[in-house]
Amino acid sequence: MTPGTLLRTYQPVRHPLLAAMLAIALAAVATVLAAMPAASQEKSLYDRLGGIYPIASTVDDLVDRLYVNGTLNANPAVKLIHDKPETKAGFKVLVTAWVVENTGGPKMYHGRPMDKAHAHLSLTDRQFDVVLHECATTFYKFNVPPKEMGELMAMLEKFRGQVVSVKN
Ligand code: HEM
Repeated sequence: MTPGTLLRTYQPVRHPLLAAMLAIALAAVATVLAAMPAASQEKSLYDRLGGIYPIASTVDDLVDRLYVNGTLNANPAVKLIHDKPETKAGFKVLVTAWVVENTGGPKMYHGRPMDKAHAHLSLTDRQFDVVLHECATTFYKFNVPPKEMGELMAMLEKFRGQVVSVKN
């Protein structure tokens, strides 16, 4: 039998019962594939960063430097808070919880939304840039890999519009 004859004699699945069974089998395969946590599926940024311990350590390092940053403390509303040492530990807790939640970790942030938390500080784009710069310094110090660092910086950048309230 030549390939030409084969093609001419080929009959698609015409039997209604067979066709229905085939359709059901294909639908079942598709459902299983969709529900399967694909082995290749990427872990959350939270998991790739190593979870809450490394995140809390980076926030600890970052906040210590933010509190003594001269450019940020030139903003009187910021300086007022940074000059009170008793605010620092609680601030670290809030920022850690915020990062955990915003990197795909467990829901644990109970602070204010970003716009409400910063509106009274009259923050500028430049001050936001300074904070991001300090974040990058911390990420380098803690050897956050380039891919995860890029994702973190992009995630933080998305909040600029909620944090900055004064155009420089
Ligand atoms: C994406 C960037 C930022 C993130 C993720 C962030 C995160 C947070 C969080 C979670 C809080 C606690 C909210 C609460 O008390 O309920 C907070 C408050 C605060 N943030 Fe930010 N922040 C960002 C940018 C900035 C910038 C640029 C500054 C400038 C110095 C700043 C200064 C402050 C200060 C001083 C507070 C305390 C406000 C208060 O208690 O009255 N933040 N921030």
